[in-house]
Amino acid sequence: MYMKYFSLIGILACAAAILFSCSEPTANVRNTEDFNSDWKFALGDFPDASQPVFDDGSWRTLDLPHDWSIEGSFSPNHPAGTGGGALPGGIGWYRKTFEVPAADSAKKIFIHFDGVYRNAEVWINGQYLGKRPYGYSSFRYELTPWLNFGGKNILAVKVDNSKQPNSRWYSGSGIYRNVWLVKTGKIHVDLWGTYITTPRVTKESAHIVIRTTVKNASAADQTVTLRTMVFSPEGKKISTLKTETTIPAGSTGEVTQEATVTSPQLWSVSHPFLYKALTQVLAGNEVTDDYETPFGIRYFAFDREKGFFLNGEPMKILGVCNHHDLGCLGAAINTRALERQLEILKAMGANAIRTSHNPPAPELLNLCDRMGFLVMDEAFDMWKINKTPFDYGLDFDEWHQADLRDMILRDRNHPSVIIWSIGNEIPEQWDTSGLRIAPELAGIVKSLDPTRPITSACNNPNPKNYIIRSNVLDLIGYNYHIEYFPSFLDSFQRGAFIASETTSALATRGSYDMPSDSVRIWPTDWRSPDMSVMNKDFTCSAYDNCRVPWGSTHEATWKVIKKYDFLSGLFIWTGFDYLGEPTPYPWPARSSYFGIVDLAGFPKDAYYMYQSEWTNTPVLHIFPHWNWKEGQTVDVWAYTNAEEVELFLNGKSMGTKRKQGDDLHLMWRLTWEPGTVKAIARTGGKEVLTKEIHTAGKPARILLEPDRTKLKADGKDLSFVKISILDDKGNIVPYADNLVKFEVNGAGKLRATDNGNPVSMESFQTSERKAFHGLCLAVIQASDKAGKITLKAVSDGLPEASVTIAAE
Ligand code: GAL
Repeated sequence: MYMKYFSLIGILACAAAILFSCSEPTANVRNTEDFNSDWKFALGDFPDASQPVFDDGSWRTLDLPHDWSIEGSFSPNHPAGTGGGALPGGIGWYRKTFEVPAADSAKKIFIHFDGVYRNAEVWINGQYLGKRPYGYSSFRYELTPWLNFGGKNILAVKVDNSKQPNSRWYSGSGIYRNVWLVKTGKIHVDLWGTYITTPRVTKESAHIVIRTTVKNASAADQTVTLRTMVFSPEGKKISTLKTETTIPAGSTGEVTQEATVTSPQLWSVSHPFLYKALTQVLAGNEVTDDYETPFGIRYFAFDREKGFFLNGEPMKILGVCNHHDLGCLGAAINTRALERQLEILKAMGANAIRTSHNPPAPELLNLCDRMGFLVMDEAFDMWKINKTPFDYGLDFDEWHQADLRDMILRDRNHPSVIIWSIGNEIPEQWDTSGLRIAPELAGIVKSLDPTRPITSACNNPNPKNYIIRSNVLDLIGYNYHIEYFPSFLDSFQRGAFIASETTSALATRGSYDMPSDSVRIWPTDWRSPDMSVMNKDFTCSAYDNCRVPWGSTHEATWKVIKKYDFLSGLFIWTGFDYLGEPTPYPWPARSSYFGIVDLAGFPKDAYYMYQSEWTNTPVLHIFPHWNWKEGQTVDVWAYTNAEEVELFLNGKSMGTKRKQGDDLHLMWRLTWEPGTVKAIARTGGKEVLTKEIHTAGKPARILLEPDRTKLKADGKDLSFVKISILDDKGNIVPYADNLVKFEVNGAGKLRATDNGNPVSMESFQTSERKAFHGLCLAVIQASDKAGKITLKAVSDGLPEASVTIAAE
């Protein structure tokens, strides 16, 4: 079986204000305004707050995106439970007072929400606009008929996340994604109204089809000219298309335009070239709307026997699953925080993201397009049969069509998106209703985008499970059960294969069990784990030997995926630790242990195993630290892509080792003595890298290392400052847990702190944080004024340290 998916792509131009008139650009037509600043907020229910007369003077003023759960204290008594991060939910109200100039009265005005968790209800000037239960859908309402042009307007939003648990992970609460005020002419490109595909792509040329839905919201039938200009990745205009059409009053019309791009620069993970379509809607001589759709030209295929091909080249999908939270920032979306996550994953060699288990923030897809990540875009964690008492299962009947449709319409122009997932571990695999619902969902997807394969991430390994049996999956998505992988081609008669979720290995950064020669598997009943057989200290060794019963270790998983060409790739659970689901640990654990990278963004050791396999960067990572007890047996591991490594203990060679067979690490079993472990990596007899680890002394100083020292003075940009506790020789002190207090002065503020410890009860919001295995993190946010930001760190008994960051 050979499936081919040609596509091409664009991004909803949420921010495009481009200058045009009928013949040459002269005026902003579409205006997309960032609508996040100066909202009023109160926790609790205030039914009268929907009405304009309500006095919100005593409410807190804040900027969106906002997540009120992250501001709360951890408690086992919050109804979300530890699965939900042990943080509070509740009801919250937001209000914003704003003016719309009288000059805008001839326009159409919309309020667009990228995502509100959950049950968002919206009023404009007291008029009810509607409700959106699903917390991950983007939606908009038209405001025009109820606006006071030239006067004050009040937008009120009620968010109800009180019925919990409604999620298996931390959801956050509030208007946690961006809000936009969109102004267009009466005749305009409809919501998510462009759809760009590339049905034929060769090295020589690409055939591009641009379908545009235009809405005529005026009172008269209109003859409209649609002018679409295509720009190369370098910004050169390469094509102008003009089409005339008549659209009756109050209806929409679809215009199809076609272009040929010669010698197309193909989008790939290493060269994510983006083209751009600029659409102008003209009624007579007047430009009534303009709209920008970035897109990529690429083609791909999943071959049942040979795996995945991008632009004709075979490649493994090296992916991770991530939830939407941003660690200490909670669910509140921040583009730089997302970009940092992707940068860290890219440096590891990852080339794909699964948006587990819900539609992501649009910014994530924009970044994936720009940075070169493939995406499995996932709609649901459950259909009608729920997983937690108050989850989306209750809304499924009424809302699944709209939610799935809107995800596809919003995301189908992104070159990064290559797979639609209609669900994760859907209980209907075991229920005959799966036979009915799967085809319905697949039908919705195919009617809106036939260019990408559909999968559902199954965890019922029986090929006769009701979702597989419905025969609508193009791609068999399989979670865990690596033992079944080798026989997949025999077990499944059709479909190519993707390991949609793997591994679920556990690790606490900086924690090590000695010696590490056995696999630790937690009890099967993970919902009420038997603590008597579990490690009471709430840590899991980092020696690739700790996993949940359904999972597999990092190394065992990767060996299988690497071995078989037909396995098109994997999505490891997870790239980053996330809030909630501390499985298998109960309270006080409140965040996950599954990440390859911890909650603060510090890599765990497995990160370097992947880096040594997935990149060509020379890698030599040795661990653990070198602070043990005299005479103790300690295993030293090395992840490397060099041919051999020689290890020295206090200058004495402990032997040169080379990986044998499918080995992914090297190991030396040593008897501990204080001093220095040195590793020399060689390829072709030549030294390529050396690493040393020293027995650390007492904490002596604080090192501050910002990931960026220049920020944009836009009120949003972030610098992530890594704080290390060092001894007097500059070694990280592996057990250091010093309390570090922060002070920020100048053109920025301390946004949050963390240390990656899944059982820390410290609030992310306070200006102090204990080190965890020698490290912690301070997140600095620029203000909207240029200037210098100084971060000062103090800790008892250590000299003060400071660092300066510029906001420009
Ligand atoms: C999977 C599930 C994920 C997460 C993971 C933990 O079964 O799809 O959402 O719960 O288990 O191991």
